[in-house]
Amino acid sequence: MAVKLIVGTQWGDEGKAKVIDYLCGSQDIVVRYQGGANAGHTVKVDGKKYVFHLVPSGILYENVICVLGGGMVIDPSKLFEELDALEAQGIDAKSRIRIADNAHLLLPYHKIIDAKREELATNKIGTTKRGIGVCYADKVNRWGIRLGELQSQSFFKDRLPLILKSKNEILHKVYDQEPIDIKQTTNDLHELGAKLKPHMVNTPYYLNAELNSGKNVLLEGAQGTMLDLDYGTYPYVTSSNPTTGGSLAGSGISFQHLEEVIGITKAYTTRVGEGPFPTEDLGEDGKKLAEKGHEFGSTTGRPRRCGWFDVEVIRHAARLNGLTSLALTKLDVLDEFDTIKVGVGYELNGQRLDYFPSYDVEDIKIIYEEFPGWNEPIHECRKIKELPKNARKFIDSLEKFCRIPIDWISVGPGRKDTIKVK
Ligand code: IMP
Repeated sequence: MAVKLIVGTQWGDEGKAKVIDYLCGSQDIVVRYQGGANAGHTVKVDGKKYVFHLVPSGILYENVICVLGGGMVIDPSKLFEELDALEAQGIDAKSRIRIADNAHLLLPYHKIIDAKREELATNKIGTTKRGIGVCYADKVNRWGIRLGELQSQSFFKDRLPLILKSKNEILHKVYDQEPIDIKQTTNDLHELGAKLKPHMVNTPYYLNAELNSGKNVLLEGAQGTMLDLDYGTYPYVTSSNPTTGGSLAGSGISFQHLEEVIGITKAYTTRVGEGPFPTEDLGEDGKKLAEKGHEFGSTTGRPRRCGWFDVEVIRHAARLNGLTSLALTKLDVLDEFDTIKVGVGYELNGQRLDYFPSYDVEDIKIIYEEFPGWNEPIHECRKIKELPKNARKFIDSLEKFCRIPIDWISVGPGRKDTIKVK
C-alpha cells in the first residue's frame, strides 16, 4: 500500500516519462493527477518511440491500470485518438483505463478561446493552445462540466443548456466566433457519456480500496514545479498544481499513503513558452544544449529555450514537494562540453537571496560555478563507477548543492540507459 510520486522540478520536459516507465514495472496502478493534453511524455522502448499527452505512460506495461485523476482536464477527442493509436499498435489500452468521475471535460470552445486569447493578448503566456487555462477557469468559476455528469439526466436537462448558452454568448460577443450548435453538442455529449461509462470511477473510493488491499500506486505529475499555478513563475505558468499538494487533491489519495517523492531533474534546464528563466543561455552553449538534447516540445514542436542547471530552482522544488530523492536525466547531453556551468546562487537588488522569489524574477543576477567537462560518451555506463571522474564530481557537487540524494541517473533515451545509484 505504498504511493510513490514523480514530480518535475524545473519547467517541465525533465524526462519524467522515462523515469516513470523505468519504475512502472513494479507498480499496479499509475495515476496522472493534473493538467491535460498540454503535456507530452515521450518514452522509447526497443527503439520505438511513444508520445503520450493524456494517457499515463504506464499503459505500456500490460499489468498496469492507468487512472486519469480528478485534477485533470480531459479532451475526449485527444483521449480516444491516443487510445485508438495504442490499440492499433497492439497495446490493449482501453480495458486498463479508469477515469475519475470528477475530472473536467475540455471541449472545442476551450481551445478556441485559449488560441484567441493568446492571439489578442499583448502579454502572451505562450500556452500550448490546448484550452487548459480556459477549462480550469470554468472549473473554478463553477461553470465546468465533470465527466461523471454525462451520466446524469438532470445535468442534461438543467445545467448543460445554461452552460452552452453562456459559452455561445462569450464566443460570439467577446471573440467574434461561430456559436456552438447546442443540439448537436448535446447529442455528442450523450454519446460520449455512453462511451466513457465503463471507465468511470470514484477515485477516492477506488484508489483507497486498492491501496488498502496491498496495491502499489505511482502518481505521475505533468509539467513541473516552476509551472505550478501558485509557486511557479506566475503568470507564466500552467493552470494547475503539478507539485505534491496537487497530487493529493488531483488523485483523491490521502497524504498518509505517500512514501516517496522523486524529483525529476535535467542536468541542465529548459523552458518552453514565455516567462523568466534565470540561467537561460542565449549564446552558443544554449544552442548546443538544444541541439544535443533534441530540445523541441513534443506537444507543440516549439524549440525549447535552454540554459544551465539552477540550484535555487531545485531547492525551491525540494521544499515545496518534500523530495526524498532526485533522478538526474539527460546527463549524456553534456558529454561534449569543455566547461559546464551551474547557477549556484541568486542576487536581487545587490542582496544575496536564498530562495526563489515570487516576483521580480527577471531581475535576478545569477552566480555561476564552472566545472570541467568529461568529453567522452557515457551512454553505455550502467554503474556510477563507470562514469568518467569529472562526471562523478559534477554529480557529487549537484547533490551537495541541492542537499538531496541523486538515486537515478539517465544517460540516454532508452529504458536500459539508466544508472541506479542506490
Ligand atoms: P498551458 O498549460 O497550455 O496553459 O501553457 C502555459 C505554460 O505552460 C506555457 O509556457 C507552456 O509552454 C507551458 N507548458 C504546458 N505544458 C507543458 C509541458 O508539458 N512541458 C513544458 N511546458 C509546458
